Amino acid sequence: MTDQVKIFDTTLRDGEQAPGCSMNLREKIEVARALERMRVDVIEAGFAISSPGDFESVRAISQAVRDCTVASLARASVKDIDAAWEAVKVAADPRIHVFIATSPIHMEYKLRMKPEEVLEQTEAMVAYARRYCSNIQFSAEDATRSDLDFLAKVCAAAIRAGATTLNIPDTVGYTTPAEMRARIEYLRAHVPGADDVVFSVHCHNDLGLAVANALGGVLGGARQIECTVNGLGERAGNTALEEVVMAMRTRPDLYPVTTRLDATQIYRSSKTVYSVIGQKAPLNKPIVGANAFAHESGIHQHGVLANKATYEILTPEAVGVHTNNIVLGKHSGKHAVEERLKYLGYNLSPEELLACFEEFKVLCDKKKSVTDTDLEALAEQRAVAEETAVEGGYQLDWFSVHTSNFTTATCTVSLLRDGQRFEDVCLGDGPIDAAFNAIDKIVQPAPHSFDIYNIHSISEGKDTLGDVTIKLMSEGRTYTGKGLSTDIMEASITAYIKAINKLCAATEQRKGESA
Ligand code: KIV
Ligand code: ZN
Repeated sequence: MTDQVKIFDTTLRDGEQAPGCSMNLREKIEVARALERMRVDVIEAGFAISSPGDFESVRAISQAVRDCTVASLARASVKDIDAAWEAVKVAADPRIHVFIATSPIHMEYKLRMKPEEVLEQTEAMVAYARRYCSNIQFSAEDATRSDLDFLAKVCAAAIRAGATTLNIPDTVGYTTPAEMRARIEYLRAHVPGADDVVFSVHCHNDLGLAVANALGGVLGGARQIECTVNGLGERAGNTALEEVVMAMRTRPDLYPVTTRLDATQIYRSSKTVYSVIGQKAPLNKPIVGANAFAHESGIHQHGVLANKATYEILTPEAVGVHTNNIVLGKHSGKHAVEERLKYLGYNLSPEELLACFEEFKVLCDKKKSVTDTDLEALAEQRAVAEETAVEGGYQLDWFSVHTSNFTTATCTVSLLRDGQRFEDVCLGDGPIDAAFNAIDKIVQPAPHSFDIYNIHSISEGKDTLGDVTIKLMSEGRTYTGKGLSTDIMEASITAYIKAINKLCAATEQRKGESA
């Protein structure tokens, strides 16, 4: 058996299915690029049949990514498999991921199928997928609540029909590490042809055991782990990529396996994913939370100063967290900013660097010192802006707000578009509402609701940058805008205009298509 464990990332499928984590096409491509840079083995790009949007994004990711296998999920049905293949066939290494449930409760109440029918369907549909592509993954949904002998029969049928990876999902987060290990060991010992395929584990975190259960699977001989960045996913989430990879790297004595992942990209990828979904890592999130490497207590600080290993089992640098925070200021030149960005893992093109440097200079006028966290936010914001900009949209010219705790807030907004100026004024329930009302009056966008409106502070201090994410919902699609400024009104207005520009562009496109 190989000692290489494949990292199968399903942030864009299982992760994206979670409430509040939906991403639009451009955001998915940005995340796929981060995953490719981090060198995951497989990117599950989506569930092609589930919607035209999903199909489109699986196809776009298949085209954009060259260095990873790209998979699409498909139920064990002809239509699903056809759609999956149509979407992934342009990938450098396409994979079709076929699944069907195998637990008594799922077969009886969800599928309304007898076990023999599930067995037949598995063999027929894996064989059908195999006609398209040699890289076929089969998953037995709810495998950890399935009868073990029946599960072994289903796995054997999938192998006979040509599956190359067999995934054992703990769909409802029910199993334990020892049980997962035993299940994989049993299947490897009893399923004919088991030596010729890769066993995989896919764990949900309902009992907080997803990482531990995946590691149990590895001890049992699984050589693929399905996981998501930051542990995103249905309900309590999936196995967190950063945690499971660093657990294996930190304890090679227990897990004598390797992965091809570039762990120094973990922190950056985590930030990209949090930024796209408009959330921030909980402070105590393992590996990527702000406190993950912070030592507050005197005893701990004393120990770490004497020898880091007293309280640190892995270094922040190993996952791309840089702790020697050099502070830049208004006298720092472009070269210093470029060097610092490189050190933080951002290799920007000359144009991107110039834009970032200009924003840095503006920030220096507003903020006493610019930290690494600020610089990262500028670079990240630039990456998102490049990836998701709408050409010819509205831009903020200026705004003026009047508010107090005894009058109704009023905001006047001036926007620019194609060299023309548009101004309007509105009242609102507070200054933000007044500003958004004024923008709506000017732009008159299609009806929409707010899916997310989040404000985060980038660093400490009252002059910190405010990072605003807005996700608007209209006709089942989300439109994201981000804004970054020391003034949260400005950050909010910028984010709203960007989201509205995307909504308007989509409305225009739809009108064009139906004309
Ligand atoms: O949790 C699950 O069972 C899944 C499968 C479709 C792999 O996500
Ligand atoms: Zn799942």
